[in-house]
Amino acid sequence: MSADALQVLREKVPFIPELAIVLGSGLGALAYGPEAKAGTAIPFTDIPGFPAPTVAGHGGKLVFCTFEGRKVVLQAGRFHFYEGHPMSLVTAPMRLYGRLGVETVLLTNAAGALNPAFGVGELMALTDHLNFFGTHPLIGPNVEPGPRFPDMTAVYDPALRALLAACAEALGQTLRQGVYLGLTGPSYETPAEIRAFRSLGADAVGMSTVPEAIVARHEGLRVAGISCLCNMAAGILPRPLTHQEVLEAGAAAAGRFEALVRAFVRDLPA
Ligand code: HPA
Repeated sequence: MSADALQVLREKVPFIPELAIVLGSGLGALAYGPEAKAGTAIPFTDIPGFPAPTVAGHGGKLVFCTFEGRKVVLQAGRFHFYEGHPMSLVTAPMRLYGRLGVETVLLTNAAGALNPAFGVGELMALTDHLNFFGTHPLIGPNVEPGPRFPDMTAVYDPALRALLAACAEALGQTLRQGVYLGLTGPSYETPAEIRAFRSLGADAVGMSTVPEAIVARHEGLRVAGISCLCNMAAGILPRPLTHQEVLEAGAAAAGRFEALVRAFVRDLPA
């Protein structure tokens, strides 16, 4: 994140949001709804250092809007490590949110399910993560005032997780709880990798979120995470995986995802 990006954003934002919501693959419809239309959209390409996103299904803008009566920023699209971006860019939105004074971030993603008890189309609240990116977003000079060796005991805020669970229950939704294993992609995993990850305690696997969660915690943000389980991970079912099926399952789950996010925002303690 450049000082320029922060300055540009400070000039353009209509208010300081309480909450940032990162809308994952296939889950971006909220950034095109009536609240978003009434808000202020800032394309990534207007932010110094932010390139346009390259993956179909990922928009590229920040939308500052009133949503369920609360001031939020909706992030449509994210920078993935597999696109060749440095970790500093992958996590730049978290730095910007921290510096702007945002307090809470909700990270959403599409993921493959490893836990055989979970089903395609279900949502999972992240309880913890495994960093399999083979690198770490805080390598390099420490970004002050975050600590050099930040604690990661409770990356995903237990109170926010409890709120998600309560919202899901009130909506009559199944909300799974589990450990997200993040890796670079862009290939999907092999069945042997998935068996290994299962034995390590992973419930879901995906190509984002972990670096963002680490940097968000380094910025002192409270973090919540939801995975949309868009496929069973490689080798669990006897057929190959396609990006298309991941997008379709994301679209099919969008209504429930949106309902859960709305309830979460509405009930978030001020
Ligand atoms: N693996 C990795 N990333 C993913 C998957 C998967 O099975 N599904 C959606 N994102």
